Amino acid sequence: MHNLNRRSILKAAVTFATAPAFMAGLSGIGCAIAADSGSKSSLDLPLLTKKRTLGSGKYAMEVSAIGFGVMGANYNRGISPDKKTMIKLLRDAAEHGITLFDTAQVYGPLINEKLAGEALAPFRDKVAVTTKFGHSIVNGVYQKGKLNSRPENIRKVAEESLKRLKVDAIELFYQHRFDPAVPIEDVAGTVKDLIREGKVKRFGLCEVGPETIRKAHAEQPVTALQSEYHLMWREPENSILPVLEELGIGFVPYSPLNRGFLGGDMTAYTKFDSGNDNRNTLPRFTPDALGKNLLFVEMLNRFGRPRGITGAQAALAWTMRKDGFVPIPGTTKLAHLEENIRAANLNLNSKDWNELEKMLSGIEIVGARYPAEQQKQVQRS
Ligand SMILES: NC(=O)c1ccc[n+]([C@@H]2O[C@H](COP(=O)([O-])OP(=O)(O)OC[C@H]3O[C@@H](n4cnc5c(N)ncnc54)[C@H](OP(=O)(O)O)[C@@H]3O)[C@@H](O)[C@H]2O)c1
Repeated sequence: MHNLNRRSILKAAVTFATAPAFMAGLSGIGCAIAADSGSKSSLDLPLLTKKRTLGSGKYAMEVSAIGFGVMGANYNRGISPDKKTMIKLLRDAAEHGITLFDTAQVYGPLINEKLAGEALAPFRDKVAVTTKFGHSIVNGVYQKGKLNSRPENIRKVAEESLKRLKVDAIELFYQHRFDPAVPIEDVAGTVKDLIREGKVKRFGLCEVGPETIRKAHAEQPVTALQSEYHLMWREPENSILPVLEELGIGFVPYSPLNRGFLGGDMTAYTKFDSGNDNRNTLPRFTPDALGKNLLFVEMLNRFGRPRGITGAQAALAWTMRKDGFVPIPGTTKLAHLEENIRAANLNLNSKDWNELEKMLSGIEIVGARYPAEQQKQVQRS
């Protein structure tokens, strides 16, 4: 029943899009379809033409308004389609205007970077594949919970990632988690050297606090910070986003659909693959939390319905409501890719967002986002 609703909403959005662009709330979609007519693709995917700039000055980076998180293509999101299918989906995304793809050494480990490299090699002059260092991986095996941002390891990861990604320079190289054993100035300094040597183009950080951001940025300007950010996790608003704005650093919200939950396909009975899905370990994905948090999804759908959009589109568009925010949702499905691209072309305004916030305010969110051990690896202040 639910899926039928989703499909009909999406279909309605497409139908509306062919109507004049002044129709309420859908002018962005109309523009996308207009752009479609120039597309040579046989697919019905809209062309994403909206761009955004991450960072500022010499290290700024222009990318599509929405990116693609590659992680779930073969890691941490359960059973995924075969490699050939995922390669095709990544290429469809690139052909339809997505220019920012996100992976990391630790995803797999290694296999996710390899997949991104192989899939996107034909687009290497058109898209940016960003990757990350900082977890400990020894002989291809992830050392659970261990970090390694020592300069020699950053250099080693850079050399190996270049090969896996099949590029001459890494477009944006993030530290994946702060390593208390290595001063951030040394991390930033190492990336600065790699930039000087032409192996890396830009520097990024993930889940670090304001002081770390300032110290790193003073050594090597930071292009973007990646943090979990969505309607059910807004903590970066407290002390991170103001610093990014002050310093001219871009923001890449990761898991913008709360790891799929805001997409509306889950219930209290949803089971996650025990071998390759980290949602199994997250307090927010226990049957109790899933069931109770469904109220959030219901409200999103209620918000989306009169606007001709799905709850997932509303959730994604919300993470794009400010310039300089570029979310990176992951998907293994063409239909979801289409939905997500269309979300980037929506023109919702502050009145819409105020209404959504009012609808969601007062709903208690059940379950922490990370278990205690993983939460220790993210800085909060
Ligand atoms: N820096 C970090 O520490 C960090 C941590 C986590 C993730 N990330 C990055 O963020 C990216 C995305 O994160 P994520 O995969 O955790 O979370 P997400 O993007 O919030 O959710 C992905 C899930 O949402 C589903 N989905 C996508 N579009 C949908 C739609 N339109 N409707 C309904 N469901 C939809 C996908 O399922 P289907 O396959 O069925 O579409 C997938 O399982 C990752 O790929 C990674 O690059 C970074």
